[in-house]
Parts: sequence; C-alpha cells; structure tokens
Amino acid sequence: MIALILSVAAWLLGVVAVIFGCLRQWLLHRRRKLHSPSEDRLHVGIFHPYCNAGGGGERVLWCAVRSLQNKYDNIKIVIYTGDIDATPSSILEKAKNVFNIALDVDKITFVFLKQRHWVEARKYPHFTLLGQSLGSIVLGLEAVCKFPPDIFIDTMGYAFTFPVFRFLADCRVGCYVHYPTISTDMLKRVQYRHTAHNNKAYVARNPFLTRIKLVYYRLFSKMYRFASRCSETIMVNSSWTENHILELLDVPFKTFRVYPPCEIEHLRKLEHIEKNDEIVILSVGQFRPEKNHPLQLQILYELRTLLARDEDLWNQIRLIIVGSCRNEEDYERLQNMKDLAKHLSLENSIDFKVNVPYDDLLKMYETTKIGIHTMWNEHFGIGIVECMAAGLIMVAHKSGGPLLDIVETSEGSQNGFLATDAVEYAACILNIILSPDEANQNIIDAARSSVARFSEEEFDKQFLRAISTLFN
Ligand SMILES: *[C@@H]1O[C@H](CO)[C@@H](O)[C@H](O)[C@H]1NC(C)=O
Repeated sequence: MIALILSVAAWLLGVVAVIFGCLRQWLLHRRRKLHSPSEDRLHVGIFHPYCNAGGGGERVLWCAVRSLQNKYDNIKIVIYTGDIDATPSSILEKAKNVFNIALDVDKITFVFLKQRHWVEARKYPHFTLLGQSLGSIVLGLEAVCKFPPDIFIDTMGYAFTFPVFRFLADCRVGCYVHYPTISTDMLKRVQYRHTAHNNKAYVARNPFLTRIKLVYYRLFSKMYRFASRCSETIMVNSSWTENHILELLDVPFKTFRVYPPCEIEHLRKLEHIEKNDEIVILSVGQFRPEKNHPLQLQILYELRTLLARDEDLWNQIRLIIVGSCRNEEDYERLQNMKDLAKHLSLENSIDFKVNVPYDDLLKMYETTKIGIHTMWNEHFGIGIVECMAAGLIMVAHKSGGPLLDIVETSEGSQNGFLATDAVEYAACILNIILSPDEANQNIIDAARSSVARFSEEEFDKQFLRAISTLFN
C-alpha cells in the first residue's frame, strides 16, 4: 500500500517537473526570440495590474518609469496591466493629467492581462490572502507567457509572482512594497482575539477557529517570506513598511527605504501673508474616524483654558478644519463635530470647510501659521509633508510616520512638534504663538528644506540606486 502511494507520488512529481522544465525551456526560447538582433535592448517588465487607477501607487509607477527611461537608453519598458478597456495612449494621457508626468507612447509597451479577476478580493470571501496570492500566480503566469522579460519589477506587492518570473523565466527580480501583505500586527490581532475587518467576531470568540487561523497566518507568512526573498532588491515606502518587511523577511542588506515622490515643489514656493492679527490653526484631512477630529476640538478647548487670562489673544485664534466627505457617514461625522463644537462653546472659533477646491486650500496655506494632525499611528502622513512644504509649523501625533519619518524635534534641527494628548498639543501651540518670529522662522525653514527628502528628485536618486543591482 505504502509503496503504491509512494510510486504515485513520485510519478506525479515527475510529471510536474517535466511540465515545469518544458514551460521553462519554451519561455527561455521565447525570451531570446523577443530580442531583435539589430538593436539589442534589455527588456524591463513592470507588473502593475491596476496601472490606470490614478492613486499614490500609480504616481510611484510613472515616476519609476520616467527615471528608468532617463537613466538607461538601452532598455525597453513593458507594463503588465489588467486594464483591458483602456488604450496605451489613454493610460499615459491620464498619467500626464493626474500626475503631470509626461511619457512617450512609443517608448512603452503594454501587455494587457485578461486574468485580473483572479486577484480581486471579492472572489475570495474566505482565505482571502491565500486566494489572492494564488490568483496572482495565475496572473503572473499569463504575464510571463505573454512576454518573458529580462528584468521583472513589481510595484503593487504581488510577491507570489516573483518565483514565477525568477524560476520559470530566469528573470532578475525587484519590487517596491507599499504595504506588507501580511504583518505581525495581523498575527497579533488574531492571537489576542481582537475583532477587526480581517478578523471576524465569530473567529475571535472561538478558540478553535482562532487556532486554525493562526496556523493559516503563520503558514502564509512563511510562503510570503519565501516568495518575497526571490526579489534581489526590495524597496519599501516608509519606516513603518521597512520595519515590518525586516521583521518578516530579515534581509536587511537588500531592503532599501525609498520614499514615494510627493509633489511639493509648488508648495515650497508659497509666500505667507500676515492677516489682521488672526492666528489661524489649520487641520486638513478627510472626515474619517481614524483622523480623530474630536481631539482637535479638545485641543482648542485646552488652549482656551491656558489662555483664560488673555482673552484678547484667545479671540485672535481660529481653527479651520478642512476635509472631504466621501459618503453619508462622513457627513454624519461632520455634523457630530459641529454639535460637539457647540457643546464646548467653541463654535465661534472654528470653521468647518468641506470639499474645498485645491486653489482655495493653497490660499489658506498662505494665511496660516500652524497646522495640526491628530491621527494615531498613521503609516506616513503625506498631508503633514504638504503642510510643512507650504510653510506651516506642524504639531503632529507622536506615533507612526510623523514620529518615524517626518517630524524632527531635537534642538538645532527641529522642524515641527509632536504631541500625544490635548494638553500637550495645546502647550505646543501656545509655545509657537508666544515664540519670537525668528525662532518660528527657523522651524519653518528647517521644515521646508527637510521635506526635500520626499521630492521627486530624491525618489529618482534612491530608486535608481536600489534598482541598479538588477542591471549589473
Ligand atoms: C506606503 O503605502 C501605504 C499603503 O498604500 C500607505 O498607507 C502609506 O501612506 C505609504 N507611505 C508613504 C510614505 O507614502
């Protein structure tokens, strides 16, 4: 009996090996044929199945394409996308309009993938991580069969495609990670049985299901680790992501922190206008619960307490809360905030501004001195970077990206303030208000030059440095 099972297993293994070998030979042959002998160029395939989405991840993609084209002239860039209803020129048109990045249609080839539905989360109500990951193998197989490149770069975090390209088509592999697919935070949440959107209440309540889920997550992180390590260079978008990737993969010598490019040049040039003694404090952020707007009202409340004996000064202070509302719930939150402001008798010191056009926001930056940010554990905080570039003195939450990447509070290089609770925030704000102009100007100057770390030029430099090993 055992002998029978063993021989069947060996036979199956043999079949798999033969299929693998044949596919590999076919792909290597195909790759050679794709190179025309007249002009021998390196083929760089970039995997970004949602390249037409117009979000932050796409800015990274198009900036990366542009810097590769500027640096290397003997390459051909191929983008794998699942946007089958778009055309190459419409995709590049959008990159131009949304990000102001002009690319030449003739210099980029698109490979359109039909199997993108395999990576969509709604296809897998259970075991979503595993489902999407196996799905991405299918999508990767389609991509590699349609065009086996010399160099493969993933910019969307589909780690399970790396072994496909590396072992089947002998590609050099690199990646840019915005977010680890699995994190130790997720494991802990299951372990300590916290309910969350990826840990449903019936699992958290049930010790047996929790056990099974833990085993599943641990196995999955092993697979993720194996797949990700197939990449020869791993770029991460922030300290937060870097810490998680280091913890999961433990390959510090090939992990590079490359901040995504932020468009801040025009903000750094804004000039400030003093406005009739008004002291404006600005908060910019969507009306989402994690942004913690109630804390902003408490801060103002504390500030009034601190200024109890200086009513004139208090009357100069205005808090302007700028935010966008995406849906009914956001509007409801906004209404609750207005009610809370009344309840604290702060309504005369606060303006709420909803869905403000960008030009108006720029005008507000010009008349604002102080900015506040109150979200706990934000992964990065591009809004803070923008305010700093625009010449505001920021008081940000002492956690996550603001703490790790953005705000520096040590003497001599201070570019802003960090605080945790309403009292601390209020003290920081009062400190800024009472500081001599010169001291404040030093902070503003430091802030405006420090955000150059997040500029497009800096991205180009760091990206090209990290990617260069693939071209050796
Ligand atoms: C990195 O990517 C994640 C996920 O998209 C995002 O939340 C975070 O803000 C990004 N970090 C930076 C520095 O943009």
